Amino acid sequence: MKVMLINGPNLNMVGVREKDIYGSKDFNDICEYIKKEAKIKNIDITLLQSNVEGEIINFIHKAYYEKYDAIIINPGAYTHYSYAIFDAIKAVNIKTVEVHLSNIHAREEFRHKSVTAPACIGQICGFGEKGYVLAMEAILN
Ligand code: DQA
Repeated sequence: MKVMLINGPNLNMVGVREKDIYGSKDFNDICEYIKKEAKIKNIDITLLQSNVEGEIINFIHKAYYEKYDAIIINPGAYTHYSYAIFDAIKAVNIKTVEVHLSNIHAREEFRHKSVTAPACIGQICGFGEKGYVLAMEAILN
C-alpha cells in the first residue's frame, strides 16, 4: 500500500506556532512518529510538505502518475478556501482522507467549513498527530 501524506502551509511550524492549539511536539518529531506507525502497518509512506498551493496540487497529480493507492492531506488554511485543491483531489480520483490536528469545528467560524473535505472519503480532526495514524487505519479498512 503506497500512501502519500501531504501537509500544507504552516504545518512545518508546528512545535513553534500556537502551542496551546497544535502542541509542542515539533514537525520533524511528528514526521518520525508517522513513519514509525506506517512501518508497523506495512504502509509505504511518502511525507511531503509545502507552503505553496500550486506545489500541493502538483503533489496530488504526482500521486496519480506514480500510482499511489491513497492520499492523506492536511491542507492547513487552504482547507477553507482552495477550490483548486478540491479540484485536484477530484481529478486524480484517489481515495483521500483529510486530517486536522485541531478540532476546526471548535475554533473560529471561518475554520468550520472545509471546501476540500467533500472531495475526500472522510475527515479526521481534533486528535493531534494521532489523526494521521487514524487516517492510515481508515485507508486500510
Ligand atoms: C489545521 C487547521 C487549519 O484551520 C489551520 O489553518 C492550520 C492547521 C489543523 O491541522 O488543525 O494551518 O489544518
